[in-house]
Amino acid sequence: MDGMVRPWRSALYIPASRERALEKAKSLPADAILFDLEDAVAPDEKPAARRLLAETLAAGGYGERACLSRINALDTPWGEDDLATLADARPAAILLPKVNGAADVEALARRLDARAGTAETRIWAMMETPLSVIHAAAIAAAPRMAGFVIGTNDLAKELGARQRPDRLPLMAALQTFLLAARAFGLVCIDGVYNAFRDAEGLRAECEQGRDLGMDGKSLIHPDQIPVANEVFAPTDDELDLARRQIAAFEEAAAEGRGVAVVDGRIVENLHVAAAQATLAKAAAIARLAAR
Ligand code: COA
Ligand code: MG
Repeated sequence: MDGMVRPWRSALYIPASRERALEKAKSLPADAILFDLEDAVAPDEKPAARRLLAETLAAGGYGERACLSRINALDTPWGEDDLATLADARPAAILLPKVNGAADVEALARRLDARAGTAETRIWAMMETPLSVIHAAAIAAAPRMAGFVIGTNDLAKELGARQRPDRLPLMAALQTFLLAARAFGLVCIDGVYNAFRDAEGLRAECEQGRDLGMDGKSLIHPDQIPVANEVFAPTDDELDLARRQIAAFEEAAAEGRGVAVVDGRIVENLHVAAAQATLAKAAAIARLAAR
């Protein structure tokens, strides 16, 4: 699906130490898998988990799902070994935790440049520290960058913020991440919803993230996937409106007018571009579902 629009509605974390969960993910309808060697894997389990992940990536079987591997930070005892072990499996994407500035991304990019098999590997940054907020634009502009995954748990902890349903204490950070991602053409995936049995709470938070402009939600449990997939997909009403906007604009253009009116609202070039993006996203989702 490279080169085409790819949906990023649901990105499921899987601890790389859990063989059964790694297997199960091959049949789950997540748009992306976030294989984790960092915080979901205990220190004692890390060496075995990184070997299992390298084997799992090399064997494949994840179809059209985007595969991101979250390594430990390079200044921890595990980061360099994670990278060395994964490099042989030609990872499509490395998710780097606790990024504080462009230098962290550049350090990883240099290592990828120096290795065989990682010429195409893209870098994703976990945005979860106060410095990542302050340096968001420079991080987004760094080499190999493809997207942000927001780490709201770490960020709330670092800020001393309370976790509230309205996420007001995190809003400045969430919007700064989005601004930087959009300014540099990156994907932006929202943080996790911890109460994984609470589907209604998850739905509300997905809707909030969608309304802000997020591409999708990072998830911790398979049960969360259908909610995120639904909330971050265009609705039938949105698709209907998009088609009518495009048709009305074409009709207006054929008559030499630069604007159209649909449902009492003005439709200009930019609305048509947004309508086309909505249709393209729906088509990409349909292609994914057909496999
Ligand atoms: N990915 C894939 N499969 C998962 C999964 C995940 N993140 N979480 C649970 N499953 C599987 C379980 O293996 C189980 O499969 P089975 O029925 O074939 O055995 C099934 O889903 C149901 O799991 P359940 O019993 O409801 O949950 P649990 O108690 O096993 O696990 C968590 C709950 C939260 C511990 C677990 O979901 C988890 O580890 N999530 C990821 C945490 C993570 O990666 N955090 C780091 C980023 S915040
Ligand atoms: Mg974190």
